Amino acid sequence: MSDVSTAAPNPHLAQYEARGLKGRILSGVQPTGNLHLGNYLGAIRNFARLQDDYECLYCVVDQHAITVPQDPKLLAAQTREIASAFLAAGVDGKKQIIFNQSMVPAHAQLAWVFNCVARMGWMSRMTQFKEKAGKDRENVSLGLFAYPALMAADILIYKATHVPVGEDQKQHLELTRDIAIKFNNDFAAPDFFPVTEPLIFGEATRVMSLRDGTKKMSKSDPSDQSRINLTDDADAIAMKIRRAKTDPLPMPETVEDAEKRPDADNLLGIFAALADREKADVVREFAGQQFSAFKAALTEVAVAKLGPVGAEMQRLMKDPAHVDGILRDGAARARAIADPILADVYRTVGFLKP
Ligand code: TYM
Repeated sequence: MSDVSTAAPNPHLAQYEARGLKGRILSGVQPTGNLHLGNYLGAIRNFARLQDDYECLYCVVDQHAITVPQDPKLLAAQTREIASAFLAAGVDGKKQIIFNQSMVPAHAQLAWVFNCVARMGWMSRMTQFKEKAGKDRENVSLGLFAYPALMAADILIYKATHVPVGEDQKQHLELTRDIAIKFNNDFAAPDFFPVTEPLIFGEATRVMSLRDGTKKMSKSDPSDQSRINLTDDADAIAMKIRRAKTDPLPMPETVEDAEKRPDADNLLGIFAALADREKADVVREFAGQQFSAFKAALTEVAVAKLGPVGAEMQRLMKDPAHVDGILRDGAARARAIADPILADVYRTVGFLKP
């Protein structure tokens, strides 16, 4: 796998720098329900924070969602829920591009080419596939196995230079880099695709379950108590924080002490991220105190920061025509970027022009 820390200078950046920007961003979120605090702090909040410095495309990846069974009656509503979260978090749907994947066929078209570039060995090493497939490998969809090649296509169909994500997507981004490099080498097209940089930042790049600080907070955890959903109201947030697992000791005295105590460390990271403070500073403030005092303060900051986002999401979800309009308009603008790049790819691999 290519090493993210030793990236060569990216020749794709000059065109953005000339416009006072740092590059082009693409990121995606699956419409699989239960959007949670991890999705928000690890990714969606950062989407809004990056929009003044980058040209941004934010995608609801409905084609990824169907790699595991989805209820067709719910998928459209879940797609609108994610788009509403992007908007509620502050992404400007007019200035930036918000759209859903299936409205831009070039993603799936490029993914087929990438299925023929990526190697079985690379795909077999993807830890997320191994986790999701578990012991039932023979019975999962072919799409679940090929998923990271579609993700690479989501990014590279726009020649995106940067991808904001949570920690758990790092390996998929390394694969995206490997696919870009192999395509460029195989087709003697140096620098055709950029070698994309991940943007993984903030104090909560990997938010853990409230019930088990060694397990990632996840949409698919059967316990709703394990996560704070973005649409939870103040009472639900307060109750989940009150019941969040801790250990019997008082609050950690140092960051090193916290790191040895996963449940405490997770709550401290969440507090720091929500309050826009450094974790070390939060550790210092609560050192040696009882968890109950810390949890009361955490509830206060969580309700203050998440309440308005959840309320705005609820408001937008009541206006599906408005959200659909944003997705359709975004998709048209996304196609205008993607289609010429796909045509270039097809020419490069030797397909006849239609
Ligand atoms: P998804 O839908 O699982 O998650 C969306 C985003 O939320 C981040 N995230 C977390 N961050 C911190 N702590 C957590 N517990 C946590 N759980 C999730 C994820 O890292 C992600 O940034 N494969 C992607 C979707 C995708 C994509 C793309 C992303 C498809 N194509 C192209 C970027 C670029 C996924 O399943 O994310």
